[in-house]
Amino acid sequence: MDRASLQERFGIIGQSEAIRHVIDRIRQVAATDITVLIQGESGTGKELFAQAIHQLSRRRHKNPLMVNCGAIPETLLESELFGAEKGAYTGSVERRQGYFEEANGSSLFLDEIGEMPLTAQVRLLRVLETGEFSRVGSSATQRTDVRVIAATNKDLGREVQAGRFREDLYYRLSTVIVQVPPLRDRREDIQTLFEHFQHRFSQKYNTASKRLDDGARALLLRYRWPGNVRELRNVAEQTAVLLRFDVVSADDIRPYLRGVTAGGGDLSMLPVAAPHPVAGDEPSRERELVYRALLELRVEIREIREQLDAVLAGLRGAMHRANAAERHLPVLVRDPEPIREAPYIEDAPFEIESAGQDRYETGGGPGGIPPSAGPSVGLQTLEETERRLITEALARFDGNRRQTARALGISERTLYRKLKELDDDGSRA
Ligand SMILES: Nc1ncnc2c1ncn2[C@@H]1O[C@H](COP(=O)(O)OP(=O)(O)O)[C@@H](O)[C@H]1O
Ligand SMILES: [Mg+2]
Repeated sequence: MDRASLQERFGIIGQSEAIRHVIDRIRQVAATDITVLIQGESGTGKELFAQAIHQLSRRRHKNPLMVNCGAIPETLLESELFGAEKGAYTGSVERRQGYFEEANGSSLFLDEIGEMPLTAQVRLLRVLETGEFSRVGSSATQRTDVRVIAATNKDLGREVQAGRFREDLYYRLSTVIVQVPPLRDRREDIQTLFEHFQHRFSQKYNTASKRLDDGARALLLRYRWPGNVRELRNVAEQTAVLLRFDVVSADDIRPYLRGVTAGGGDLSMLPVAAPHPVAGDEPSRERELVYRALLELRVEIREIREQLDAVLAGLRGAMHRANAAERHLPVLVRDPEPIREAPYIEDAPFEIESAGQDRYETGGGPGGIPPSAGPSVGLQTLEETERRLITEALARFDGNRRQTARALGISERTLYRKLKELDDDGSRA
């Protein structure tokens, strides 16, 4: 399959040297059973390329399995990957099949492999070298035929130096490295990608296609895209839905450039525990439930964070538009702020303002939330803006709440809650 058809088939956009190189690499290695390590920042398309490798291999008739090594508690990762014998750890009452057994004959995508604990790394090296492994708590050797595609957004060489990653495993994994450069290092792809997503989302949401003016194009090219293609896709989605104008200017787009990767995880990648059958009343049942609840909680936290980011971006956009004076500020592309962990709480939207400001801004710079005159004034404005944003979005989707929530990047549940709040406020006022 030539490069163009491959890109067409897997929806891989881009004509940069870097992307061509990645595609050529994939074409070379896909058909072999060789282990591949995909390195690149979050949002650069690692999962997309992993899928392409699997689909071009002889294993394509079986579904690939995906495990996010960073999302499973360390103590459980080994038994998740390799299975566990009955009684292997306190409370394990039955034998558990691991991903390596389950993926027999197919591919296993190990995402965030840099997060794998050292003990699991030992087992991984063994299975890569010999195809053999044993379940946790068992000495019996099992065989499996699994093609591993690993991905990381860390510099594994540095992890080795820091003693967090085994050198022998690193060598084993680095036979074939597919290096996916960040979007800012392949700027010639930005416009094509943006137009591709704009087109896709304006079809999806049934909004008019928009044209970027020169200023908007220049801004997109100069922006650093810390969240890479994922961030670009989100920006294209928001602008496709929320902007009214046929021709889009830099001022229209600037508020949507957040400079935040928010951890960059893809929800689809999170291996919410495969439902293991659980027997009646044993203590293990509780353990299982706790484990599952923990994983679900992780997903929820991530989801809430992403929702908040989207809401904040939307609010910033609306406030920015409302502030006509700001429209003439010069384009200023900021380096991404280091991402700080802030205790975000979904039900306290207005406390988030200061956290958000902290996170996105070091001062009341261009493109940011203008410093508020005082707490009460700030709160009022946010509330009003949120109300307007929601009302506008609802109108645009003819009151369809599912579509509205999706366009606003919040869950339906959140939208219902917000509508109720707005209602309550309205009736008080
Ligand atoms: N070159 C590309 N062409 C089209 N879509 C892309 C490209 N690179 C990434 N994407 C899209 O960007 C999003 C993030 O990609 P993903 O593979 O999940 O990144 P990563 O695994 O590196 O975090 C996905 O929706 C993916 O389809
Ligand atoms: Mg990913």
